[in-house]
Amino acid sequence: MPPLLRVSDLSVRFHTRRGVVHAVERVSFDLDAGQTLGLVGESGCGKSVTCLSLLGLIPQPPGRIAQGEIRFGDLDLAHCPPAKLRAVRGRRIAMIFQDPMTSLNPYLKIGDQLAEPLRLHLGLGRREALAKAVEALDEVGIADAARRVHDYPHQFSGGMRQRVMIAMALATRPEILVADEPTTALDVTVQAQILDLMRRLQREYGTAVLFVTHDLGVVAEFCERVAVMYAGRVVETGPTATVFARPRHPYTAALRAALPGLEPGARLRAIPGEPPKLTEPPVGCAFAPRCPRAQPQCANPCELRNLAPDHATACLREFE
Ligand SMILES: Nc1ncnc2c1ncn2[C@@H]1O[C@H](COP(=O)(O)OP(=O)(O)O)[C@@H](O)[C@H]1O
Ligand SMILES: [Mg+2]
Repeated sequence: MPPLLRVSDLSVRFHTRRGVVHAVERVSFDLDAGQTLGLVGESGCGKSVTCLSLLGLIPQPPGRIAQGEIRFGDLDLAHCPPAKLRAVRGRRIAMIFQDPMTSLNPYLKIGDQLAEPLRLHLGLGRREALAKAVEALDEVGIADAARRVHDYPHQFSGGMRQRVMIAMALATRPEILVADEPTTALDVTVQAQILDLMRRLQREYGTAVLFVTHDLGVVAEFCERVAVMYAGRVVETGPTATVFARPRHPYTAALRAALPGLEPGARLRAIPGEPPKLTEPPVGCAFAPRCPRAQPQCANPCELRNLAPDHATACLREFE
């Protein structure tokens, strides 16, 4: 059986006045139905751009999908006409962001915002859609939902707004939920509640989740599989337990060492040095300048290669 979603060799570039930004470089991963895949890495490593490309939301220009394929059923989302993408987005693949206010309209009542995708994608009438909106709010734990549908976003707290976003995203029962740092802006207690909610709904509906975070603790708790990104590339991917028990890329090891207990919410300890400029990506391993194990051969191109059928690393030294 092919996976639900297969990203192969995806490269996304931005053509800016400062040069060409190689935001995502030859990224590949699979997502199976019902699975949770964590996408981790420091800020600026290409996580959000990867997500946006799955939804056909890369601003073009300045962005461009330079190569690769995003296979979803018989569609290639990397080369899909806008009308087909609109039919997939929000219905079969939904997304939630770090800041719900970027996707909630401050001037529209919550109920109307929830009802809209239901009317658009499921063809429900006004009343029916509103009733479903109440149900959806109730399901994500918003008390007094029948009254709260008439409130505006600013009347909800940050955690509540994120619940609303989850309700909106899941209302059409998508096959894939792309969650881009959905709990980063929330305090630790609320973060734990939102994760519990996502886990419950994910199990109940069997939604596959691409969960983006810079928090390894959250990945350890929430994701069966993980893909670690560095400077636009996936440098290691595999089952979360295996990858965290024995990282096979020095960048993963450095992230892992910074979080001995893997507790959610713990901040990553800074790794000495800076990631490379994405306008001038190196030919060889991008982590080499910061890597305690770097050798001269690390200046050669290093592709992601399998160590086991479900575990891959881009570190050449693992294959010596
Ligand atoms: N619209 C854009 N124009 C130019 N560069 C962009 C644009 N969007 C993202 N980038 C660049 O792409 C790189 C990856 O960004 P992003 O995916 O947002 O990182 P992350 O989500 O991992 O923090 C960054 O260098 C960022 O500056
Ligand atoms: Mg981001």
